Amino acid sequence: MKPSVVILSAGLGTRMKSGIAKALHPVAGRPMVRHVLDAAASLDPEKIILVVGHQAEAVRKAVEQYHVEIVHQAEQLGTGHAVRQAKNALSDVHGPVVVLCADTPLLTADTLSGLVSKHTTSGAVVTLLTAEIQDPFGYGRILRDDHGVKAVVEEKDATLEQKKIREVNTGVYCFEKDFLLASIDVIGNENAQAEYYLPDAVALARERGLIVSAFVCLDPDEVMGVNTRLDLSRAEEIMAERINKQWMLAGVSMPRPKGVFIGMDCVLARDVTIYENVRIEGRTEIGEGSTIYPGVRISDSIIGRGVVVKDCSVIEGSTVLDNASIGPFAHLRPGTVIGERAKIGNFVEVKKSVIGEGSKANHLAYIGDADIGRGVNIGAGVITCNYDGFEKHATVIEDNVFVGSDSQLVAPVRIGKGAVVAAGATITKDVPPDALAISRAPQENKEGLAERRRKAKEKKRKA
Ligand code: UD1
Ligand code: CA
Repeated sequence: MKPSVVILSAGLGTRMKSGIAKALHPVAGRPMVRHVLDAAASLDPEKIILVVGHQAEAVRKAVEQYHVEIVHQAEQLGTGHAVRQAKNALSDVHGPVVVLCADTPLLTADTLSGLVSKHTTSGAVVTLLTAEIQDPFGYGRILRDDHGVKAVVEEKDATLEQKKIREVNTGVYCFEKDFLLASIDVIGNENAQAEYYLPDAVALARERGLIVSAFVCLDPDEVMGVNTRLDLSRAEEIMAERINKQWMLAGVSMPRPKGVFIGMDCVLARDVTIYENVRIEGRTEIGEGSTIYPGVRISDSIIGRGVVVKDCSVIEGSTVLDNASIGPFAHLRPGTVIGERAKIGNFVEVKKSVIGEGSKANHLAYIGDADIGRGVNIGAGVITCNYDGFEKHATVIEDNVFVGSDSQLVAPVRIGKGAVVAAGATITKDVPPDALAISRAPQENKEGLAERRRKAKEKKRKA
């Protein structure tokens, strides 16, 4: 029979010291609750029920692409109380009920299915997922006797002796539905936190002579509960290790993978090389043979094949076509398309512009709202003046134009095919094709004047 899943996600997560509900804190760019939902969905469950409370609306929004039934826990009176809110929602399910917490983002599908199969073969009314961990502080400890698991005791209720136990409750359980529904009404709150503890169902089962079993997860990292920012950073690191490993096995080179972040919705082709301290975020795709140098951030962008993104560049919402070169220190802002073999170099910012095939802007330029053709050369320090203080205007630069250094193109303006803009020009009118546009005061050389000035100064100093 298909299991159903209840995910507890109502807590604020006081120990996070945050204005954001714990379940919404991201790991690998996704709210924690989504990782847990993905693991839950892998069981192909009859139903997934999400218990929400703190920032219920935001949590609901974060999971809107999942098929879940939402129930509310108005007051957070403990994990047992949280499951009690799912009572109605559980009334029509048939199989066992898996209970998960939204703060265990590293839990895998394999472990969950292992837990469910152990449960179905054990004849138990509840099967706990436990783990042996080095530093069990903060977790509920597993008390065992000759008949197996006897009870779970929370950190705050544990004796010094019990605190030494290293086998912990992971907060993941598989229950027989009828037993779960019966026990959540009976569980009391006489404990250090005056909360209704779901794990108390274990002692209850044993008191009634029912079977409790345990499935031990051999990878303690996988079941870590995120309670603090410290835990969050550890979860992030472990998740990044997993993701990076997958990409490396798929043919991506990462000479120093520590510090490389690849979001879960990114796609990398083979022979991509990613150096240290790089973040690839959102829905980014990187084509075969491209190289991303240290300190780069790319989000929601399409990068073609054989592209080189040099150090410390930022690419957002842009498309970079095959064999183009970006950076170092370049910034591509949303709506930008960089053509094949084009070059965007040092300290160049491009916003919502199209740069044609083989065109270059190698140094210190701002290109905004521009449509630039093929084979164009944008000199150092060129600026498209796209904003008049009220509105944005477009600049069109046709094929094979040469824009000399330190020119300003005051938009709206069009530079015709093959034209040359002389260095230092301020272009306010369209330039016809093949014309040379020059706009600077004529140069005058005053012979000997520099030397005369120098001598005059020297004389003054001596005097
Ligand atoms: C819980 C377990 C502990 C276990 C640990 C594993 C209890 C009493 N303790 O402790 O044995 O070792 O998880 O990580 O269950 N929640 C609600 N409503 C509430 C209270 C909590 O929805 O009223 C949700 C939280 O949002 C969270 C989850 O339940 O997702 C666990 O709550 P948390 O406070 O983190 O429990 P722990 O103290 O970690
Ligand atoms: Ca927890």
